[in-house]
Amino acid sequence: MSDKFEELDRLNELAELGGGLDKIKKQHEAGKLTARERIENLLDKGTFTEIDKFVTHRCYNFNMDKMKILGDGVVTGYGKINNRTVFVFSQDFTVFGGSLSEYFAKKICKIMDLALQNGVPVIGLNDSGGARIQEGVLSLAGYAEIFLRNSLASGVIPQISAIMGPCAGGAVYSPALTDFIVMVKDTSYMFITGPEVVKTVTSEIVTKEELGGAMTHNTKSGVAHFAADNDKDCLYKIRELLSYLPSNNLEDPPIKSTKDDPYRIDLDLNNIVPDNPFQPYDMKDIILKIVDENYFFEIQEHFAKNLIIGFARFNGKTIGIVANQPSVMAGALDVNSSIKGARFVRFCDCFNIPLLTLVDVPGFMPGTSQEYGGIIKHGAKLLYAYCESTVPKVTIITRKAYGGAYDVLSSKHIRGDINYAYPTAEIAVMGPDGAVNILFRKEIEEAEKGEERKKTLVDEYRKTFANPYRAAELGYIDEIIKPEVTRPKVIQAFTLLANKRQSNPPKKHDNLPL
Ligand code: HXC
Repeated sequence: MSDKFEELDRLNELAELGGGLDKIKKQHEAGKLTARERIENLLDKGTFTEIDKFVTHRCYNFNMDKMKILGDGVVTGYGKINNRTVFVFSQDFTVFGGSLSEYFAKKICKIMDLALQNGVPVIGLNDSGGARIQEGVLSLAGYAEIFLRNSLASGVIPQISAIMGPCAGGAVYSPALTDFIVMVKDTSYMFITGPEVVKTVTSEIVTKEELGGAMTHNTKSGVAHFAADNDKDCLYKIRELLSYLPSNNLEDPPIKSTKDDPYRIDLDLNNIVPDNPFQPYDMKDIILKIVDENYFFEIQEHFAKNLIIGFARFNGKTIGIVANQPSVMAGALDVNSSIKGARFVRFCDCFNIPLLTLVDVPGFMPGTSQEYGGIIKHGAKLLYAYCESTVPKVTIITRKAYGGAYDVLSSKHIRGDINYAYPTAEIAVMGPDGAVNILFRKEIEEAEKGEERKKTLVDEYRKTFANPYRAAELGYIDEIIKPEVTRPKVIQAFTLLANKRQSNPPKKHDNLPL
């Protein structure tokens, strides 16, 4: 009997070595943790249970039948994060470069099926050369099986991807189908094909970092949501992100008790929005002063900075925040910020996360680059996302809410539940300058002192339209509040809306403008 036990111990040890000590050394020298070390850092201590540790591939090409490694390059199983169950797969670059074989894919699919059936999030730690070349179409089929499950699980369980090494070819599309992507700076890359192929096809010379490094995807493409300093930071970020999320679409997000007073008034808030409507300010100053413990977990902080998105808690409850940033492009909505906002609003709506929208927007960004880039259809995404969402929605107009952007950003008319405005709010079809130029161009041109006349007209317009009182008269704004009471007012509103039930007409699925 003891021989049999020893054999099990031996096989376990062998499986845990992955591609062997030399390859593990190489992995460490590259500044990366191994697949198993990553799981240890991700999960609560001692909670990991591995599945399919002894699975191997079935490939005979290129002498592969003589090169079988237990586990076949991916460690899969389940464990806990902050005492809540998660499924995890961790690709092992020390085994055939983490490349995906038929059985590697089967292991991932098995845990994805279990996760979907049991309403448990899936976290993928990616470090892979893509489809295993020796397996041909079998590995392509394996990817497709994963993509199918990513799509079916979307909106049912949170799916989070960490990019912790090279991810090429098929290895990028599964992460792209998931909800959030965290990339590690300097050691991770995502591209459909690397610099060598780029050079051959387009003659373009580009480095791996420029083509698909962490900051490329965090600043330029918007593919990634977070940039981590190293492997440990990446895994820590995932733990934190999950703390805001429910385990599935039938649950509410977890509540984190707080000592922060829900009735806390902050007089400093009264001085953040400047008197001069052309003077920028930092919307994050408002966010930080109103949320629990002044802590805001920002998402995509490096991309489309004119719109801020992220999670915070109000009286312990997770809230998704969408806010214009007047200090970047005056907070105008453009293509990138519309896409960024739309995806976030839809995520929150999938997972029962109420939305707080802070509005200071001069409108959509005009011009050929935006029009050619499709601002109409991308802006429509954000509009659509707000229109279809049924989670509780609280809106605060801090200053400008002009034109279509007023409608889009959780206005009363598209089912904003509670809509506040500060006394500094300006709600109108367009800003005073633009409006006066259109309405009174002839009069200004013909006036003896044109500039003086224009100034008088702008002042009149501002007095008549650029304030929140007309909207309040019509019931489009529920209450005009002083900034100092923002926190208690937001908490009061979300408490009121805690049992909100609203549904959309039955349909196969929507046709969001893509
Ligand atoms: C099999 C692979 C592999 C692969 C790497 N290896 N990629 N084995 N299939 N796709 C193996 C290498 O042979 C090597 O084995 C070990 O992994 C480590 O690879 P290195 O090249 O030595 O490492 P490094 O220099 O760090 O470069 C890593 C890399 C590079 C950038 C990932 O290996 C690379 O470019 N690989 C191919 C990437 C690619 O084009 N994939 C696309 C596949 S097509 P030894 O034994 O020497 O240690 C695809 C389509 C799917 O994915 C489409 C679905 C939509």
